[in-house]
Amino acid sequence: MSPRDLGDDPLPPEIVRSLLCSVCGDPVGVTDRTVRCGRGHSFDVAKQGYVNLLHARIPAGTADTATMVAARVDLLASGAYLPLAEALAKVASEHIESGLIIDAGAGTGYYLAHVLDAVPAAYGLALDVSAVALRRAARAHARAGAAVWNLWEPWPVADSSASLILNVFAPRNAEQFHRVLTADGVLVVATPNPGHLQELGDLVISVDDGKDARLEEALGDRFGRVDRREVTQRVTLSPAQLRQVVEMGPSAHHLHRDGRRERLDAITEPVDVTTSFSVTLYRPVP
Ligand SMILES: C[S@@+](CC[C@H](N)C(=O)[O-])C[C@H]1O[C@@H](n2cnc3c(N)ncnc32)[C@H](O)[C@@H]1O
Ligand SMILES: [Zn+2]
Repeated sequence: MSPRDLGDDPLPPEIVRSLLCSVCGDPVGVTDRTVRCGRGHSFDVAKQGYVNLLHARIPAGTADTATMVAARVDLLASGAYLPLAEALAKVASEHIESGLIIDAGAGTGYYLAHVLDAVPAAYGLALDVSAVALRRAARAHARAGAAVWNLWEPWPVADSSASLILNVFAPRNAEQFHRVLTADGVLVVATPNPGHLQELGDLVISVDDGKDARLEEALGDRFGRVDRREVTQRVTLSPAQLRQVVEMGPSAHHLHRDGRRERLDAITEPVDVTTSFSVTLYRPVP
């Protein structure tokens, strides 16, 4: 994987071409590490390499915190979720050869970087509301750029500009997915299965069985499912990795309940767990 050198253009030009001003919707260009449109709206590129296109406050608690991001960086670096990254990379390389990949809710850009490695002529845009996570995503790959954005608002991205949208454990805005994907584009969604981390009981928020139906419902009649693959592995997690797994996601907000923090801290031996994900492919319905 070739990380991005921030001495380069702050955002690859192939990505800037697809970005729109988030105030007026006009195309943008980059000069002096500033993204601006012809009407003079401008957005700074942070020294860490991401651009903040937000101009409205986002609800508190929406973005991943620095603690969650740090836990996710460590857990992902250990390779515990590598099989999922490899499955996503394989699916992407089977379906596209080039174009723009948008990772909606990209976090640190870990999965996007793997996918870009598998599709050498593609570029990647990481969208996420967490600036802390995007500091990582901006450096995750030489062909990636990162922008702070709230996925529930209309995206500052041109119509029919993406050949693939990646969505890994993140919010799904079906209307925007459909608008920005090309007619022959593909949406790749990763979700945890009901058996995921089942050995950890209530230390992780359980995945309910209705999630599948809700996913399809959220995508409505805009997308049709064309393929689904399951990625299930047994992995041994060290006590430190167990803490990272819990602290990197929404379960972190529930650790104060029912003695969970104490039970997690009491684990001193490695634990074998099941990781289980679904990778589902959708095509836009015309
Ligand atoms: C569980 S994390 C997954 C991150 C990444 N896909 C991964 O698996 O490593 C969910 C991500 O969605 C982002 N997120 C949550 N709500 C969002 C919103 N409304 N707009 C943009 N990003 C959002 C969070 O900041 C976080 O990075
Ligand atoms: Zn503008």
